[in-house]
Amino acid sequence: MPLPESLTCVLCSAVYREGPSQYSCPQCGELGTLRVSYDYDRIRASAGRDGMANLPFRDHWRYLPLLPLAAGRVEFPLAVGGTPLYPVPGLRKALGLERLWIKDDTANPSASLKDRASSLVLLKGRELGRREFAAASTGNAGASLACLSAALELPCHIFVPETAPRAKVAQLLIFGADVLSVRGTYSEAFSLCVEASDRFGWYNRNTGYNPYTVEGKKTVALEIAEQLGWEPPDTVIVATGDGCILSGVWKGFTDLYRVGWISRLPRLVAAQAEGSQSIKQAFDGDGTIRAVVEDTLADSISVALPRNGVMAVQDLKASGGCAVSVSDGEILEAMALLGKTAGLFAEPAAASAVAALVKLADQGEVPSGERVVVLSTGHGLKDVDAALQAVDPPEPLECSIDAVARRVS
Ligand SMILES: Cc1ncc(COP(=O)(O)O)c(C=O)c1O
Ligand SMILES: [Zn+2]
Repeated sequence: MPLPESLTCVLCSAVYREGPSQYSCPQCGELGTLRVSYDYDRIRASAGRDGMANLPFRDHWRYLPLLPLAAGRVEFPLAVGGTPLYPVPGLRKALGLERLWIKDDTANPSASLKDRASSLVLLKGRELGRREFAAASTGNAGASLACLSAALELPCHIFVPETAPRAKVAQLLIFGADVLSVRGTYSEAFSLCVEASDRFGWYNRNTGYNPYTVEGKKTVALEIAEQLGWEPPDTVIVATGDGCILSGVWKGFTDLYRVGWISRLPRLVAAQAEGSQSIKQAFDGDGTIRAVVEDTLADSISVALPRNGVMAVQDLKASGGCAVSVSDGEILEAMALLGKTAGLFAEPAAASAVAALVKLADQGEVPSGERVVVLSTGHGLKDVDAALQAVDPPEPLECSIDAVARRVS
């Protein structure tokens, strides 16, 4: 299988080889994330997309010919990836769009897209000789690492800000992780986790900082391409915090393009919360990532300094896309809209991508025939308190048939 040829810094272009302690560029610091690249001619010669059709399993290891593992075959205890791509007729009608799909990554084992990255990082770390794992997380990356490391019987340490939603912390605890609830922000927890991993020899899964997080997340794009008959969508809308999912989506499509499995690339749209839009500001401005004071109820995309921001801005530009910011109110409306038109329950961060679509459609920036895919990246049950803000809870009803009759008349 294809071991990476090189890992290249997005800031200074220095090239590194992979290793058990190779994370971001040591010269450029945490914003200098590394791009993984392969010998694409070799992949093209040794693997073809037609072979995919005969594979008996649907999880994301079907794309092993495009993943950085030495193993020729993967046995994984839980089913990661292979998530549905729904045509959502009710949402299509509500938005006046004819060709819209939701990629429902809430169907992953820990109920978020993060399982794609965690599963790859766990196998990669094990291949590199590491036996203990760590991550800092706004909630989902940690819940995901905890879930999958439990299934693989590997110990892990998860650093979360003490404000992380209760359901996500419950996941961590149920999965038996060592939970370090940090009195500080996600950014502070991130730096502390890096320091602790160095000190104690843990393999670090921090988003962006570990180059294989982008590689794992790219499988969502590989699946979308295959599910649409290798005819990529025109637009993919991605909820964006650190920018790692966005870069993963772009990496997936560009890898497919480079090996000749698809013949064109989609434009990407980064959906950000108004209260956490460092990537949008950099994209619309001079390209420099600057820290913001984060303030949004969409905890998973509430990020002061996006660690994968430089790569995400580069990728957004390369795709000819744009960034859209949405308010917390618009996110809550989008949660309710997705729920009642499609039967899909997304957490606020995930619903921000739907909110961005609503905004673009209202502004006439999505022609009705355009083929659009929106990622649903995390399940709504992870943050029930936020969900309840999106709806009107019912007044208690007197327990009588007359009261029901009055109510429904
Ligand atoms: C549900 C959900 N959506 C979107 C994101 C944003 O991903 P990224 O930080 O890679 O931009 C996250 C990250 O935690 C998430 O959990
Ligand atoms: Zn560098």
